[in-house]
Amino acid sequence: MQMFGDHKFPGKLFIVEGIDGSGKSTQLSLLQQWLRREGYMVFFSEWNSSPLVKETTRRGKRKQMLTPTTFSLIHATDLADRIERHILPPLKAGAIVLADRYIYTAFARDVTRGVSPDWVRELYRFAVKPTIAFYFRVPLEVSLKRILGARAGLKYYEAGLDIGLTADVEESFKLFQGMISDMYEEMVNEFGLTVIDATRSIEEQQDEVRALVEREIADVPKSPVTYMEFEED
Ligand SMILES: Nc1ncnc2c1ncn2[C@@H]1O[C@H](COP(=O)(O)OP(=O)(O)OP(=O)(O)O)[C@@H](O)[C@H]1O
Ligand SMILES: [Mg+2]
Repeated sequence: MQMFGDHKFPGKLFIVEGIDGSGKSTQLSLLQQWLRREGYMVFFSEWNSSPLVKETTRRGKRKQMLTPTTFSLIHATDLADRIERHILPPLKAGAIVLADRYIYTAFARDVTRGVSPDWVRELYRFAVKPTIAFYFRVPLEVSLKRILGARAGLKYYEAGLDIGLTADVEESFKLFQGMISDMYEEMVNEFGLTVIDATRSIEEQQDEVRALVEREIADVPKSPVTYMEFEED
């Protein structure tokens, strides 16, 4: 069943997915730099970044007052807002859009938190289908090591402490991210995610990502017609 819209716009949408610390942002930012150097017009959009809902999410998280369903609805609102303002206009103008996390993050996290898989898929029907959805596949131990190497500790929600699996933060991270990882694996076939072996070096992965993207952008103009201004936040 084809659930999400295949768009007919001249632009391209590339998105990255994977468990926390899998290296998504690292790869997307290198891709962005390369595409810009090549002369393409590139726009970037990040999960949960819409000004419309950012403050609500922040407060809700801080006070731990979000239920799985309200969490899900807030993220859907965030993406709906960003799709209309930041994703569709560049796609229509023939630009390249890069998104750090997309609908698959909601499907993996929300279902892990107990939301119905069908309900959340239905909720996100408004989303346009990405040209390529990269899934950075990595074992939990590797991502945990990367996260702890980069900063002091694990965050409450990334460790899934809100669902009360165990009070031990590291153990909770492994259980929660393990369930999310299983969800991603199930979605590989369901949505045709492009799997990248994320245990390799940053450079090796980036070479593969660029080669895959290059094939899709042969007909994308390097200076698309821009008849409108895009808001930058
Ligand atoms: N291939 C790699 N090998 C070793 N370290 C890496 C690799 N890729 C990224 N890292 C490091 O791992 C850490 C996490 O990477 P990054 O922030 O890109 O992950 P992420 O998937 O975006 O995480 P999050 O989901 O939390 O946003 C960073 O410190 C980054 O420098
Ligand atoms: Mg990131």
